[in-house]
Amino acid sequence: MRKADLPEILTIERLSFPSPWTEGMFLDELRVPQAQNWVVKIEFGGKALIGAYIIFWLVADEAHLHNLAVRKEFRRQGLANHLLQLMKQTAAQMGITKRTLEVRASNRQAIALYRKCGFVVKGRRPKYYTDTKEDALIMWADG
Ligand SMILES: CC(C)(COP(=O)(O)OP(=O)(O)OC[C@H]1O[C@@H](n2cnc3c(N)ncnc32)[C@H](O)[C@@H]1OP(=O)(O)O)[C@@H](O)C(=O)NCCC(=O)NCCS
Repeated sequence: MRKADLPEILTIERLSFPSPWTEGMFLDELRVPQAQNWVVKIEFGGKALIGAYIIFWLVADEAHLHNLAVRKEFRRQGLANHLLQLMKQTAAQMGITKRTLEVRASNRQAIALYRKCGFVVKGRRPKYYTDTKEDALIMWADG
């Protein structure tokens, strides 16, 4: 992910989340050394479009997922699964096997994805999302 990718990423972000990240939040992630920021580019109609992106942190012995979204036209084609495998492999190269994330309790698609990728619910943060007062599920995978 580069700064030049942000206009396209912000469009995907706004169509994907009720409280989308701002440009400043993405710029902060691009500056932080422990952040891993990746995009998937897809050749489409003669252009390279951003199909998906992921941001995760490698901190101590844990990998923390911060953001993951797939452009609507490219969903259900395995891109998110691919990026979560990338997170697993990148972490493993640093000897990290534990991975964690927070997800809105109502986000059935994402929860199904994370379960398929080996994450299990280990906790709940009540009213974690201030926009809707919705709970966050805390999910973990190991190995
Ligand atoms: C959730 C999201 C990232 C999934 O991306 P994707 O590339 O479509 O997911 P994949 O194609 O890799 O799907 C892998 C598995 O996840 C599950 N899954 C994904 N989308 C699903 C849906 N709409 N309904 C049910 N299960 C779904 C399925 O088990 C799927 O495997 P299958 O297609 O073999 O059944 C995408 O829908 C998205 O960007 N949503 C908005 C942003 C978001 O919620 N991000 C997560 C924040 S925590």
